[in-house]
Amino acid sequence: MTASPVKSAPTSVEFIDLGAQQRRIGDKVEAAVKRVLAHGKYIMGPEVKTLEDQLSRFAGVKHTVSCASGTDALSLPLMALGIGPGDAVFVPTFTFAATAEVVALVGATPIFVDVEAGSFNMDVKSLQRAVDAMPAGLTPKGIIPVDLFGQPADYDAIDKVAQAKNLWVLADAAQSFGATLGNRRTGSMGRIAGTSFFPAKPLGCYGDGGAIFTDDADLNDIMKSLRVHGQGSDKYDNVRIGMNGRLDTIQAAVLIEKLAIFEDEIAARQRVGKRYNDLLRGTVIVPEVAANATSVWAQYTIRLPNRDKVAAALKAEGIPTAIYYPRPLHQQTAYRNFPSAPGGCPVSEKLAGEVLSLPMHPYLDTATQDRIVTAVKAAVG
Ligand SMILES: Cc1ncc(COP(=O)(O)O)c(C=O)c1O
Repeated sequence: MTASPVKSAPTSVEFIDLGAQQRRIGDKVEAAVKRVLAHGKYIMGPEVKTLEDQLSRFAGVKHTVSCASGTDALSLPLMALGIGPGDAVFVPTFTFAATAEVVALVGATPIFVDVEAGSFNMDVKSLQRAVDAMPAGLTPKGIIPVDLFGQPADYDAIDKVAQAKNLWVLADAAQSFGATLGNRRTGSMGRIAGTSFFPAKPLGCYGDGGAIFTDDADLNDIMKSLRVHGQGSDKYDNVRIGMNGRLDTIQAAVLIEKLAIFEDEIAARQRVGKRYNDLLRGTVIVPEVAANATSVWAQYTIRLPNRDKVAAALKAEGIPTAIYYPRPLHQQTAYRNFPSAPGGCPVSEKLAGEVLSLPMHPYLDTATQDRIVTAVKAAVG
């Protein structure tokens, strides 16, 4: 009797290949970490200020406040702006929880706004409806647009809505650091912007981290104080209620090395994103990037009706996928009692049932990408 041939399992693909990046700059990162171990200034060491200066130049802003996470990069601005109970802040519902969480944490009310299907970003018409229909007892204060999956929101249109009602704009650029809108880079859009250096983000560290960007010198000073327990002239002079929101020196040292190759990685991300779009257009609904914008492709997210079947078929081929996000925030247990824009958020509800994110990182080679595309086409059928 001859043995039946055993089909070997397909080699698995990385969803985000941080190992490939480490093979490229691992020596430099290790040397940078060793320098911190040698000088021993683990909190607010010299690398923190160096990184902040480099980030300000990169984003084209006057001030950068590094901080402990992307969540703190939204909380500290809200605290600096004095947002609290009775205030309303408009946020998209199709986003990561932190966008609305920070509003609720300072005691204010998030008002959920729908998104556009093509860009996944805040729908300005839904925003306008929400602004025009303020629930009694709430004072509108600001807007937190999210640059979902790496593409900036439509800040030109959002700024017009904001200016008409004297609202501030705090950009949630957690997923979009390095992207552009016209000749501006993320960080320079909105009155303040916050980003995340979570390891899987386009610019990620090896732990938690974040940064806040602004041209406003007063807000910069207040956020620097808030980040260290509301300190005044020194550490033991507390002039306001703050938090421990510092980026640690080792993460700053890692980020300095990663920022040195970031332009090159952004270009690679854009090659991969464009190639996916060229190969998958017509098979599934591909993500749209506005003509005046670039994305850093934090995620490459397609839309298709039979998403779960396709995800299962890809998994069997060793290709991981992810669903960002399976449920919009206005339908989540913690957030469903907060108001939504008039007309509700039907686009976000539909997207939650259709989106599927494919492996995406700057080191995705064309052979692996072809394998993913072939598997998607076969599964879609
Ligand atoms: C849109 C958005 N906002 C905020 C955050 C919070 O960032 P962090 O995880 O660094 O706190 C994230 C992180 O996933 C995010 O994707």
